[in-house]
Amino acid sequence: MNRALREAFHREYMTFFEQAERTRRWNVFTDIPWDDLPASATDEQLSQCAETFCGVEMFLPDYLKAHLDLVGGNYGQAWFAANWGYEEAKHSLALREYLHRSGQRTETQLFDYADQVLSRTWHRPYDEGRQMVIYGAIQELTTFVIYHKQRRLAAGAGAHVLAEIYRLIGRDEMAHTRFYQRMTGLHLDADRDGTLRDLAHVLRTFRMPAEDVLPDYEARVAVMRTAGIDAGVFLREVVLPSLGALGLTRHDLPGPRERPAVDTLIRPGSAAT
Ligand SMILES: [Fe+2]
Ligand SMILES: [Fe+2]
Repeated sequence: MNRALREAFHREYMTFFEQAERTRRWNVFTDIPWDDLPASATDEQLSQCAETFCGVEMFLPDYLKAHLDLVGGNYGQAWFAANWGYEEAKHSLALREYLHRSGQRTETQLFDYADQVLSRTWHRPYDEGRQMVIYGAIQELTTFVIYHKQRRLAAGAGAHVLAEIYRLIGRDEMAHTRFYQRMTGLHLDADRDGTLRDLAHVLRTFRMPAEDVLPDYEARVAVMRTAGIDAGVFLREVVLPSLGALGLTRHDLPGPRERPAVDTLIRPGSAAT
């Protein structure tokens, strides 16, 4: 990557980090209304989703390794990865604390679950740094959409504490989305044709992380359908807004003229991070 692009990434990181420090920091112990748990409803379906998302977020060491392996000497991207890792670390922790403090899972169950998750390995889906940046933009927005739906479901069920957790986490995911979109935009400015090729490739092959490696994933799929992410939602709420944020339409993508293969982009019930 050339120096001009590295410097542009650094400037984007500084903007991201300043906004995070000034407006977005939250504390697992003091910003979640834990004292309201007795008056907050519980729902096994919502809890099973929370446990699944908690598990997907637990692959953080693998996600971080994938980031750091690809950033090389790129200061802005490396520091983003470190900061991103801190923010993501709170996501699984908040969901884990919720499951425990609300009495829906015991410490033993949660330790068993962590052992199961961490005994497996997630491998990055692309070997090119630019493709991973694009993947990040799509994955973070998909995650935001999933958490936004969970938040609405939780609020509707009277699970207000869980809804607040999804609000806090979702705000982080949207910030991550915007950062990756800006990075993708810088790649477009530097090499439009190559970036469009990569964008088309990632959209054709995208899968949410950990879909295949999460323990008992197939058994969770039925419950996870409440996440409401099918091919149509993915196209409407993830693909088209992502292209729009980059000033693109589907017609800008190279390759077959037909729309991205959304039927295979994501399986209903895919998970989040
Ligand atoms: Fe994220
Ligand atoms: Fe996350």
